[in-house]
Amino acid sequence: MTQPVNRGASPVGYDTIAHDAEALSAQIARLRAQIFEPDATKALRLFTSTEAAKLLGVTDSYLRHLARAGEGPEPQRLSGNRHGYSLEEIEALRVLLAKKGGAKARVIVPNRPAHEPAQIIAVANFKGGSGKTTTTAHLAQHLAMRGFRVLAVDLDPQASLSSLFGYQPETDVSAGETLYGAIRYDDPRPIEAVIRSTYFTNLDLVPGNLELHEFEHETPRALLERGAREAPFYARIATTLHPVADRYDVILIDCPPQLGFLTLGALCAASGVLVTVHPQMLDIASMSQFLVMMADLMEVVRRAGADVSLDFFRYVLTRFEPKDGPQAQVAGFLRSLFGERVLVNAMLKSTALADAGLSKQTLYEVGREGMNRGTYDRALESLDAVNGEIEALIRAVWAQRAAAPAEAAA
Ligand SMILES: Nc1ncnc2c1ncn2[C@@H]1O[C@H](COP(=O)(O)OP(=O)(O)OP(=O)(O)O)[C@@H](O)[C@H]1O
Ligand SMILES: [Mg+2]
Repeated sequence: MTQPVNRGASPVGYDTIAHDAEALSAQIARLRAQIFEPDATKALRLFTSTEAAKLLGVTDSYLRHLARAGEGPEPQRLSGNRHGYSLEEIEALRVLLAKKGGAKARVIVPNRPAHEPAQIIAVANFKGGSGKTTTTAHLAQHLAMRGFRVLAVDLDPQASLSSLFGYQPETDVSAGETLYGAIRYDDPRPIEAVIRSTYFTNLDLVPGNLELHEFEHETPRALLERGAREAPFYARIATTLHPVADRYDVILIDCPPQLGFLTLGALCAASGVLVTVHPQMLDIASMSQFLVMMADLMEVVRRAGADVSLDFFRYVLTRFEPKDGPQAQVAGFLRSLFGERVLVNAMLKSTALADAGLSKQTLYEVGREGMNRGTYDRALESLDAVNGEIEALIRAVWAQRAAAPAEAAA
């Protein structure tokens, strides 16, 4: 039997770690260049006419009727004698359908009162890997495909959301190009300067990278040095997003897995909060601490004068395996404790979602052709159910406001 070689401990300086970091970063850039063309940007597939009809809420045959009548974009040929549309063409069809239905201008999402700003939804939990980014990305794309104008904000210095959208945080996002550039204390840029359009119609992105972390370091100093002279840390995200709040229907913020100043700022800006939770004992123990800390800190912020009221707060069960006894038990226990604050639909665990994530895509991007159809359909069904439920919440908030505008303004 060979004995393990004990090399002994050799002293390591941080210059070695810096060297490791440089080597790793160069290697990642090389690997990426092999996989993607050097300046390739992500592009989106075509959607089948069945998918388009579902997104538009009409039948397949009505779309065929429109095409025969020469109304709207001409469908493009796909393999197997099928037809499809780009997302841009689906949006054009949506506008056409609205015009036919008597709408005069661009279809404003039904129920949204004209004077209401965008709903800002923060997706948070300090448990790493609870599904925040997966939930944000799929919800953002779902809403965009349904005609909402969406801004997705990557608030995590790890920037997983940005890489999902094809932006490599180390190479494609420069200094000052994240939300940090717009919320920093010295020389902040206007929010418009950090918003990028994406390959997804109706969906813009504020990318993230490591510089976001600066906000966590700078805030304590700013608190000491600047006092009440300018927007306090908890109001900076809300104040920064304000100028574009009438340009979007929904702004989604993917929070980092910690309850620092960035997450607090996102919670203060939010009108809705989604807490993603994997129903397992360790995860809910960690969530319980998160909730205690969040409630305490938000109370402090409220006393400092911030409006921290929310239109909704929901727990989203993620990577859920209903056939797993302990998980089902934890899910039931959360439902009995929190009632309607747990979404009725859960994001089921699926290899389709995990595989899509590995290739830096969402399930909507991969499409049914790229996978085992049964697996894809089950995952899509659970995603659509979760996203549909959140969409209904958003619409319900606007419906309430439209019904009682005076009360809302008071
Ligand atoms: N429903 C699901 N089924 C299978 N895998 C999933 C599912 N949801 C998320 N995952 C996978 O779990 C991992 C963690 O998910 P995700 O990155 O969304 O979590 P997160 O909360 O954003 O993590 P972090 O705290 O690091 O930001 C990813 O690899 C993702 O692809
Ligand atoms: Mg994440």
